[in-house]
Formats: sequence, structure tokens, C-alpha cells
Amino acid sequence: MLHYEIKDLAVPELHQLLLGGIAPRPIALVSTISKDGESNLSPFSFFNAFGVNPPMIAFSPARRGRDASLKDTYNNLISTEECVVQAVTYSMVEQISLASTEYPAGVDEFLKSGLTPIESDLVKPKRVKESPFQMECKLVDMKSYGESGGSANMAICEILKLHVAEDIFTDGIIDPQKIDLIARMSGNYYCRANGKAIFEVEKPLEKRGIGYDQLPNFIKLSEVYSANNLAKFGNATSIPDDGTVKDFIKEIVNIDSVGFEISEEAFYRYEKLSNYKYMMKTSLQFIKENHPKSKYFIEITAKCALENNDTDFAWKAAMCKEKIDKHPW
Ligand SMILES: Cc1cc2nc3c(=O)[nH]c(=O)nc-3n(C[C@H](O)[C@H](O)[C@H](O)COP(=O)(O)O)c2cc1C
Repeated sequence: MLHYEIKDLAVPELHQLLLGGIAPRPIALVSTISKDGESNLSPFSFFNAFGVNPPMIAFSPARRGRDASLKDTYNNLISTEECVVQAVTYSMVEQISLASTEYPAGVDEFLKSGLTPIESDLVKPKRVKESPFQMECKLVDMKSYGESGGSANMAICEILKLHVAEDIFTDGIIDPQKIDLIARMSGNYYCRANGKAIFEVEKPLEKRGIGYDQLPNFIKLSEVYSANNLAKFGNATSIPDDGTVKDFIKEIVNIDSVGFEISEEAFYRYEKLSNYKYMMKTSLQFIKENHPKSKYFIEITAKCALENNDTDFAWKAAMCKEKIDKHPW
């Protein structure tokens, strides 16, 4: 590890470290209006939501690193206390990047970026038509920390009205694949939340899981299971007993086996297909035949079940490893 005391770091170096470690950051595309009615549009990735009742968001139009001057977004918020904050999709990335150019005050970044202004309902700043998620907000508080280059100005805002595109929903929730958001990382890097970058993690059970510390050693010390696999095992509320494992083995031995084959090659083919039932059936046969890798195959099978979110199956499969010497079927 590298260790840094903040007092020893130059501001740009610290800035890059934070950009790298606090990432990916959502991007707020903030529209404001000056007291003279001039529109302004800029992206900010020091941004997040902090509660829903009332719905509160905050972002930081920090002091410019170059000369510690205040940004137009900050000045506009102080004078007019309103903004519209929009989510940024992949299709807008080049335009929001262009909108981040330090144009002089009074230059309308809607015009510069080519993004389309549309009227808001409750506030004066315009909304960005291209964004599928727009929040009309009022400034509740502006907290400033320091007066040097890079000092934070936290604009704390309450959302007054939301505008959300109808076509980004699936089953009543915003579908991450459909909204296609981007986020900011270190250097010039962004990331796009789509495809395989998006995955699901089941919530921990309400009935508390047994936890990592209660896992049997033969599971905890396995070289096959990853830390993520072990945490999934730890989310179960109990460890299957001998009777349950015995019934499981019977069930697997008797499963409908059309096209079933027993060989190492077939085992790995089943693994590619995530057919962990056939993997288990093969493993049990290997145990009977005293195959030298049978314990390993059992663990690979349990891992495959875990990764397909069948934790119940995974536990029963994993417990078979312990029962191998008894040959209970
Ligand atoms: C993706 C992205 C994220 C940014 N995040 C921030 C931020 O969190 N805080 C900040 O002060 N500047 C940030 N910037 C830079 C501002 O967008 C830039 O300084 C802009 O010109 C400010 O405009 P204004 O003076 O019109 O308010 C970001 C730029 C980009 C492209």
C-alpha cells in the first residue's frame, strides 16, 4: 500500500487520487439561470442523492483549481436558488463534455453543446430534453469549505418535480440497460453502465444469514470458492442436515437423465451450460468410482449453483463433500 498524509499531497495529486478511488461517480448535468436570465449548463460528478423524504441531492461546483474563482453554476445558484439536475446517458457523453468547457459567464452551454432546452414546470432554469431523467430543484443550502483552488461548495438541493421517460421502465423500475447511464472515473475515463457491467446481487435475507464465521472449515478453506461465494453461503439461515443431504443425493441420482453422459469432458460441458444438476450427478458417480478429483468436482458444482443463485442446491452439494467417506446413497 501507498500511504499519504493529506498535508503532504499537492492539490492536483490528491484530486486525481480521489477521482480514482471514489468512482464510478454519477454525473449531474446542472442547468441554472443567472439573475439576468442567462442559461448555464455544466456537468458535475461530485454528486449524489442523500435521502428521499424529502428527496435531497447535493453536488459540488468547486472553486476553479486554476485561480480559485467561483464557477457560474455556483454564482447562479446563489442568486436564483433554482436548478434542474439531469442524469447523463451514453448518447449524451460528448455533448456534456463540451458543456464542461470553461466558457465565459453569460455563454449559454445549451447552444455550445447542442443540447435542447425545454421549459420546466416549477423553476426557471430549463430542462435538457435529451435526458430521460430530469429533476427540478430548489437550493436549500450552500456549504463552502475553504477558499482555495479546488475548495468544495456543496449545493444541497431539494427535488420539487421529477420528469422520467416512460420507455426506460421494466416491471415498474428503471431498467439500467434501458437508461444506459454513464459515470466518471479517474483521468479522462468514463464508464458505461450497460451489458455485462450490470449484474444483480440478491439482498441479504431478512431472517439473518449464519454469516461467514459460522461456515464449516472445509468450505471456508476450499481453494475453489471465492470470497464472494463464501459470503453467499453465509447468507443461508442454516446448514443442511444429514437427512436433507441424503434426500438430495437420492433426488440427483434419480433425475431424468436424457442425453446424460459420465466423463470429465461431459462435466466441463455441463459447467459451460450451467447445468449444475448434471454436474452433480456426474460428481456423485465419480465418488462411487473413487475418482481422484471427485471432491474437486463437487466444489465446482456447488460454485456453479451459487453463481446461478441456487444457494439451496449449492449448500446441499457442498455438504456432500463432507459425506463422501460415508457413501450415504
Ligand atoms: C464529467 C464531468 C464532471 C465534472 N465534475 C465536476 C465537479 O464535480 N465539480 C466541479 O467543480 N467541476 C466539475 N467538472 C468541471 C465543470 O463541468 C467545469 O468546470 C464547468 O466549466 C463549470 O461550468 P460553469 O462555470 O458554467 O459552472 C466536471 C466536468 C466533467 C466533464
